[in-house]
Amino acid sequence: MIDKINELLRQVEEFKPKAASEVEEFRIRILGKKGALNHLMEEFKSVAPELKRELGQQLNKLKTTATERINTLREELSATAAAEASHVEDMTRPGSASELGSRHPISLVRNQIVEVFTRLGYTVAEGPEIEDDWHVFSALNFPPEHPARDMQDTFFIEKNPDILLRTHTSSIQVRTMERQKPPIRVICPGRVFRNEAISYRAHCIFHQIEGLYIDEGVSFADLKQSLLYFAKELFGEQARIRMRPSYFPFTEPSAEVDVSCNLCGGKGCNVCKGTGWLEIMGCGMVDPNVLRSCNIDPEKYSGFAFGMGVERIAMLKYGVKDLRLYFENDVRFLHQFDSAL
Ligand code: PHE
Repeated sequence: MIDKINELLRQVEEFKPKAASEVEEFRIRILGKKGALNHLMEEFKSVAPELKRELGQQLNKLKTTATERINTLREELSATAAAEASHVEDMTRPGSASELGSRHPISLVRNQIVEVFTRLGYTVAEGPEIEDDWHVFSALNFPPEHPARDMQDTFFIEKNPDILLRTHTSSIQVRTMERQKPPIRVICPGRVFRNEAISYRAHCIFHQIEGLYIDEGVSFADLKQSLLYFAKELFGEQARIRMRPSYFPFTEPSAEVDVSCNLCGGKGCNVCKGTGWLEIMGCGMVDPNVLRSCNIDPEKYSGFAFGMGVERIAMLKYGVKDLRLYFENDVRFLHQFDSAL
């Protein structure tokens, strides 16, 4: 019997469990109702009286050692489990990359256009989106009865027809001329607002870039040359332009500018409607009345101005057929421009 007790003592000392469940199994095997200790107790009843003292002491020793060992092991294991639970991150694992966004196609094209003109010596000017009648219409030689001054075309602030959302960024050009003496060379990008029904080719909010150059002796030839350079930079060396007579209150003479269709190379396709040409902007020589409104002497100075819609240029450049896509923020659309520019 003493051997059995010693063997169990050895087992208790050497017991190295990995999980709390092993400790519990061990406890049942040694200290449980039908466990080894109770078996020995039964045996103890029938041992010779002279052996009882020593065996009794050993049995007690086994009971206390086993109980103590089991308790410490339990504590140790629950402490490691808690530590593990609070330390879930494995610092050696590779991190998860955060997804990178990309520039909006309108920003890409805007930046590209601005960049072409900064190379020609233009600086960027910005101005307010909420404007007054003077900067959007009156200073630009719009007669009082002009249809653009109608609610159908322009968003006016209620009860005050003098305050409105700018319909073009020409208002920035007026602000620049009021502030600055010639020579002036500015490019004016910005959001504009028109009271139009939304369709695949029109939106009530869109982006424009307008340009203005004023100095002594600026001619229509300078305008044409600058715009040809711009078209080649944006659409490629093979690009050609043509100008068609047009009308704007603030320029005289005025023209619409077409660029040769970059999809069919000028042969005619469904994008250019068989003409081989795509309309990209309006332009002209600044009307002397506009210069006078801004205190610039039209006898001394002349200048040209041009203006284009960024959405339209982006549509032609990327073959986008519906302008509404630019405003819907569908990532499947936007991701296609990840590597553009
Ligand atoms: N402001 C005109 C528009 O919004 C564009 C333009 C600018 C035309 C400058 C001629 C000269 O349509």
